[in-house]
Amino acid sequence: MKGIILAGGTGSRLWPITLGNSKQLVPIYDKPMVYYPISTLMMAGIREVLVITTAEHAPLFRALLGDGAAWGMTFEFAVQESPDGLAQAFIIGEEFGAGDSMALALGDNIFHGAGFENAFPPVTNFDGGHIFAYPVPDPERYGVIEFDDSGTALSIEEKPEHPKSRFAIPGLYFFGPDVVEIAKSIKPSARGELEITSVSEHYMREGRLRVSVLDSGTMWFDTGTVDSMMDASEYVRAVERRTGARIACPEEIAWRQGWITTDQLAAIARPLEKSGYGSYLLGLVNH
Ligand code: TTP
Repeated sequence: MKGIILAGGTGSRLWPITLGNSKQLVPIYDKPMVYYPISTLMMAGIREVLVITTAEHAPLFRALLGDGAAWGMTFEFAVQESPDGLAQAFIIGEEFGAGDSMALALGDNIFHGAGFENAFPPVTNFDGGHIFAYPVPDPERYGVIEFDDSGTALSIEEKPEHPKSRFAIPGLYFFGPDVVEIAKSIKPSARGELEITSVSEHYMREGRLRVSVLDSGTMWFDTGTVDSMMDASEYVRAVERRTGARIACPEEIAWRQGWITTDQLAAIARPLEKSGYGSYLLGLVNH
């Protein structure tokens, strides 16, 4: 399975912060926002990632992430000319995917928690669709998923007035190799976007959409507004200061996955010592 990070968009809910910068590059406490969804894909075991950005911000992402070799990964980059919807990611990523299954992580979605790492579907020989359900107090603000006891999706509704469940759909999706053809077949919505909901609904109609519940042991943030960005930053700060561990630290995940050696980790860490980030990595090496 390959991964796509969707890090384009307008970021208009963060203006003026995002008038001269990409939303996905602004900090969530001690690291750029995009580190979080990249870490999510890494925890799922995905090493080949396509980062989709606006043309304007592509050079910044290349400068930050490089080709991925330092983390034992491969990063490729593609541009979305205009924000025409989440499902367009699979069309842009057709060549990159080369017939493999694909996981899509939205560049402004953050997950953390004990149960989260066990929530992923197996990423080899993956077929169908797999999405997540997260209980929220205000489901009418989200895409809402209804599902049966066996975890098969029954209905999906976008910002419904009368939600059929209290479960929102977070920005992390796993789809089989047929997702490119499905994305090509759907029509733009009333707001002119290729909706990810339409892709999920396609799998649901065929009875091939599975749902995993992320329980209250998992934190999920969609950091698209100033307040949610601050909430996420405060959460990361509190957890990191209290536990001494870092959330969404790609170098650490790569090392724990066995994708880079201890020597490679130390080499990455040394130039980053001044901020404390490198000292943390060196602490892993030494203990
Ligand atoms: P949104 O938060 O829905 O949109 P946005 O980032 O453009 O923000 P705003 O509503 O404030 O203008 O997007 C969710 C994520 O998906 C976010 O990381 C940006 C990304 N995205 C794209 O890369 N391309 C797109 O066409 C869209 C709609 C979103």
